[in-house]
Amino acid sequence: MPGRTGPELYRKAKTRIPGGTQLLSKRPELFLPEEWPAYFSRARGAEVWDLDGRKLLDMSYCGIGATILGYADPDVNQAVHAAVDAGSMTTLNCPEEVELADLLCELHPWAEMVRYARGGGEAMAIAVRIARACTGRDKVILCGYHGWTDWYVAANLASTEALDGHLLPGIPPAGVPRSLAGTTLTFHYNQPGELEATLDANSRQVAAIVMEPMRSRPPEPGFLQRVRRLADAAGAVLIFDEITAALRVNSGGIHLTLGVNPDIAVFAKAISNGYPMAAIIGTAPVMQAAQDTFISSTYWTERIGPAAALATLAKHRRVDAGRRLVAIGERIQQGWRTAAASAGLPLTVDGLPPLSHFTPDVPGAQAVRTLFTQKMLDRGFLATNSFYAMYAHQPVQVDLYLEACAEVFRELRQAIEHETVRSELRGPVALSGFARLT
Ligand SMILES: Cc1ncc(COP(=O)(O)O)c(C=O)c1O
Repeated sequence: MPGRTGPELYRKAKTRIPGGTQLLSKRPELFLPEEWPAYFSRARGAEVWDLDGRKLLDMSYCGIGATILGYADPDVNQAVHAAVDAGSMTTLNCPEEVELADLLCELHPWAEMVRYARGGGEAMAIAVRIARACTGRDKVILCGYHGWTDWYVAANLASTEALDGHLLPGIPPAGVPRSLAGTTLTFHYNQPGELEATLDANSRQVAAIVMEPMRSRPPEPGFLQRVRRLADAAGAVLIFDEITAALRVNSGGIHLTLGVNPDIAVFAKAISNGYPMAAIIGTAPVMQAAQDTFISSTYWTERIGPAAALATLAKHRRVDAGRRLVAIGERIQQGWRTAAASAGLPLTVDGLPPLSHFTPDVPGAQAVRTLFTQKMLDRGFLATNSFYAMYAHQPVQVDLYLEACAEVFRELRQAIEHETVRSELRGPVALSGFARLT
């Protein structure tokens, strides 16, 4: 049975911290309301200990995609300990930021200059600021999710549905100045016609086209090439958001595998295995515009982030982590399919293998997914319908997880048949997407 200490602390947290946590994707209500452990005391490899000392195998979002090598990775931690011991913040700069800039430009030979931040959303805001400064234009056309800041959420000012279908439906624009309405426009992945029409309708006004080069689905042949041509013809800066896709299949941006280079690429999350770090890399003419505007923050200069990123990238390359992440993800996808077929549970499996997810193709799918999480938690797994692979996931752990999935899928099938899904749930059905939590 799940422990009580974490859920109790979370109930208290909601009275002190609006929304309970700083990250939507960590809200327990999205997983298993009232029972999700919510907090951890320590973590190592792919294992997490909750506040009651219960050891759980994490087969869910795994550090929300940040800890690509695994929790408390010994090599990254050694570099971080050294950075802490040497002093992580002084009046002078840390040399690691120059070394990291060289490495990022070596990995992405089209890029010549680099700036840093510590979080993904703020790094995207920097990239957009640079694009606007470089072009002298205001408008941005985007596809996908790119963080919490005004330039992004402004898309929902024009129509509250504009961002639906762009990863996080229902993001409310409260607090974003109304005067930004119409500055951020949207298009859908693999729909170059939509992008072209929006560019035409905003001729010579678009500063940037912002997108993930790939997320769940691969680009259709020629799609990214056409985006590149459209950006060039419009004189817009092409920004690839690599915050989640980078380092999943290769030791760099996923765009390196897709044959199209942007003008700016943005990295965060996995780049430093869970220590705060973000990098904005780009061509010299575009990045130089960072000098024409004000982009500056104290903690963007500390040493832990670049030290962690250097150690993460070095190990990622040394062990060819991308290859292993793909192999683990493919095993999980195959395992889900086999388990679902033998249980007779209709299931769609989707996603880049290291960022896999499934959807039960049944009425009341969200309740079924919630019951999956409850039954997996009872068996000692943090699990939802998404699985983000970490290098630390061991084959034996994957086996244990897939055996549990096979059992649970059979039980879910029975619960659906006997219409007991809701009555078997000990708490409410999990929320999906943005919902105001009180
Ligand atoms: C593609 C993409 N862009 C931006 C972000 C925002 O990054 P952060 O949560 O570090 O602000 C995320 C986070 O999930 C992301 O997946």
